[in-house]
Amino acid sequence: MRMYDLIKKKKEGKELTKEEINLMIKAYVNSEIPDYQMSAMLMAICFQGMNDVETAELTMSMAKSGDMVDLSSIEGVKVDKHSTGGVGDKTTLVIAPIVAACGVKVAKMSGRGLGHTGGTIDKLEAIPGIRLAIEEEEFFSIVNKVGVSVVGQSGNLAPADKMLYALRDVTATVDSIPLISASIMSKKLAAGSDCILLDVKTGSGAFMQTIDESIELAKRMVAIGEHSNRRTMALITDMDIPLGYGIGNSIEVIEAINTLRGKGPKDLTEVCVILASNMLHLAGKGDLEDCEAMVLETIKDGSALNKLAQMVEAQGGDANFILDTNKFDKSKYSKNIISDKAGYISHMNTEECGIGSMLLGAGRETQESILDYSAGIILNKKTGDYVEKGDVLAVLYGSDEDLFEKAEQVIKEAYIFSDNAIKNRPLVLAKVSKDNIEKY
Ligand code: URA
Repeated sequence: MRMYDLIKKKKEGKELTKEEINLMIKAYVNSEIPDYQMSAMLMAICFQGMNDVETAELTMSMAKSGDMVDLSSIEGVKVDKHSTGGVGDKTTLVIAPIVAACGVKVAKMSGRGLGHTGGTIDKLEAIPGIRLAIEEEEFFSIVNKVGVSVVGQSGNLAPADKMLYALRDVTATVDSIPLISASIMSKKLAAGSDCILLDVKTGSGAFMQTIDESIELAKRMVAIGEHSNRRTMALITDMDIPLGYGIGNSIEVIEAINTLRGKGPKDLTEVCVILASNMLHLAGKGDLEDCEAMVLETIKDGSALNKLAQMVEAQGGDANFILDTNKFDKSKYSKNIISDKAGYISHMNTEECGIGSMLLGAGRETQESILDYSAGIILNKKTGDYVEKGDVLAVLYGSDEDLFEKAEQVIKEAYIFSDNAIKNRPLVLAKVSKDNIEKY
């Protein structure tokens, strides 16, 4: 096999065989194919696409490029969830303990922030002492004992994805449905859960900006999961508006804890209840209505919050922070962003909100950036709200006042005003299962 011939074949829109895909991924992971040739292949895939069979083969060879985690020593059904990434998306911190409190095991490997989107592992690191790089044996033992553990992806989980993602990030080849599907599903299949709920975000803060593209992505990923005998389903959820009001690491942990207390923002609570109920349903805990009742009960009786505290403690963190969020460090500086006009907020550029938070130190501009865990933004107004001139749109937080000016400009520009009231679209826009697509 010559990589040159494979690039040419894909450039001409022809189908790559299983053998060609396997050899290519193996050779790339072994550094036998240079980045410039793999970049050309990625760009050819962006333009020519891949059919379902090619995408499934690419996913499997990426998954098998490293460890395939065997969760069989954890008792019961294991359910996983994956979000395609968004702004203010702290759902894992809420859902994982809820599902565990309902008696279904969650052995979750999460990632760090990517571009303007936040990552669960960065958020959890805001809790002092917490260990997120945990050896497999201890990880399994925590899941068996507590019911839930969220850890960072081990270095050898789908290494092909790690290498390809880094290359896609710098060659404008991220937004390709087959490449995103293979990237996400290779990690999910390697992570070993029996059931996978995909939260495919759609809108201005997501990688997929339209509902139709998001459904296409969801269909591919569900087909790959089911083909590998994992019960897989996807919900298409709104990311045209940041989820909740907080963006930033400790800010989002605090909002997640408030949600587990039953005092979270309405949109975040609704999305988390729907996602958690669907995870339980996938895991065979009953029909959706029964599952939703179980979820609401764990919030009401405090068992979900308790689960989070138990998980944090088992992973070496200070569980007092979960029980009393006043313990989190306050940022040194804050600044109100004042509206200089009146009107309805008709749209928010949600990607810009994520960038604003990153500029304050909550996310990474480069791989080497050091995070400021208390930095971020608390939005005061969101799409659909009416604003008077002089109202506070949002409050910026951070340890470096010099970063505020640029972030303020970005956030201010993210708000689009109109004279007319607008109606927000539903939070869950579609559901994609093996045999069905339901649009809401
Ligand atoms: N998240 C991933 O893990 N991979 C992608 O390609 C996009 C989002």
